Amino acid sequence: MAECDCPDGCGLRIEVYQGPRIDQEIYLDHAATTPVDPAVVQAMLPFLSERFGNPSSVHGFGRATRAAVDAARDLVARCLHARPEEIYFTSGGTESNNTVLLGVTEALREHGCHVITSAIEHHAILDTCDYLQSRGVRTTVLPVDEYGLIDPEDVRRAITNETVLVSIMHANNEIGTIQPIAEIGRVCREAGVLFHTDAVQTAGSLALDVDALNVDFLSLSGHKFYGPKGVGALFARRDVPWRPLLHGGGQERHRRAGTENVPGIVGLATALGLAAEKMTGEAERLIRLRDRLIDGITARVDQCRLNGHPSQRLPNNVSLSVAGVEGESGLLILDMMGIAAAGGAACSSGSLEPSHVIQAIRVPPEAARGSIRFSLGRGTTADQIDFVVDAFAEVVAGLRSLVPNYAETLRALAS
Ligand SMILES: Cc1ncc(COP(=O)(O)O)c(C=O)c1O
Repeated sequence: MAECDCPDGCGLRIEVYQGPRIDQEIYLDHAATTPVDPAVVQAMLPFLSERFGNPSSVHGFGRATRAAVDAARDLVARCLHARPEEIYFTSGGTESNNTVLLGVTEALREHGCHVITSAIEHHAILDTCDYLQSRGVRTTVLPVDEYGLIDPEDVRRAITNETVLVSIMHANNEIGTIQPIAEIGRVCREAGVLFHTDAVQTAGSLALDVDALNVDFLSLSGHKFYGPKGVGALFARRDVPWRPLLHGGGQERHRRAGTENVPGIVGLATALGLAAEKMTGEAERLIRLRDRLIDGITARVDQCRLNGHPSQRLPNNVSLSVAGVEGESGLLILDMMGIAAAGGAACSSGSLEPSHVIQAIRVPPEAARGSIRFSLGRGTTADQIDFVVDAFAEVVAGLRSLVPNYAETLRALAS
């Protein structure tokens, strides 16, 4: 807390509310956000104090931050196997996604007016497609199979002469299914259609190579891989047409106006670089813990299904639907037990309707309401997993004991 130092001596106490005390011990919501890596904080600190110059300024203060932004761009480009001039810094995944959808359809309006996406995209894609639809852009929303997979042949069949863009996410934030992006990209390339992938959930956990993936655009977000919030990046292949979302300055080579978020950009790049260094070992460790959690819970809790693909899934994602319980009630009890998890998508929780993703993979209604997501991270240990298995089995048994017709529900499900 600080006291105002104005010459009037007003004595005003300046304090930013920090929120309630956090008692949680086990954080299993890394798909919503991750803690910032201490090394990332260290890398950012100078840019929150003495290195404060505006990168557009020609003096030494400005040149120092310009050099830092350039170095960050180089590092992000290396991590994606892209060129530095193909990387644009944004305010996060939402902005990167909006930029591609709005920017490509605006640039190519004369060539066509049709966009293809999938039923399980993040709302930053789906809501933007709704908006585009209201502006006269036709949108095809492709279905997914029971594992949440998109069939590349469906993409091929949906492409018309009017199609200007296909946008399919790399991995789903709720159920963790990883899409055959390289194959879908090949289909788009053969048809001469631009292809975007929302890699917000995979950047930092899977190796990304924009050429191998056959993508023209790729979105990522710093806070999903132990970097800061409010900063993201967009890969846009050289020479592909798109118009900027923000106007008002020459930053980011006239593609994204506004003074750069230098601490954020440095943090994002440092975090992505660190994640690349740790990637292989950490993915293997997470897969072991993920499977321990899936096996533990499914052995203890009957009528519990794993959502998403059994093997083509993110190393840290466990999404379950449990018959006869209300997922939100389970979340609240877990919360009281010191365990942080999520129901449906973090960005749209609060609604008791099964999420659009759970509906798209056709989870039976009795189980759809009992959907819960655990997303593991660097701090997750085997002891925590064992504790969560016990706690979850207890929570489900407790909730089911409150459902008077639970036995009939189970019989109906089994028949
Ligand atoms: C798949 C996906 N895309 C986009 C976003 C939005 O990213 P941001 O929070 O950086 O705006 C999220 C956030 O949860 C996400 O999971």
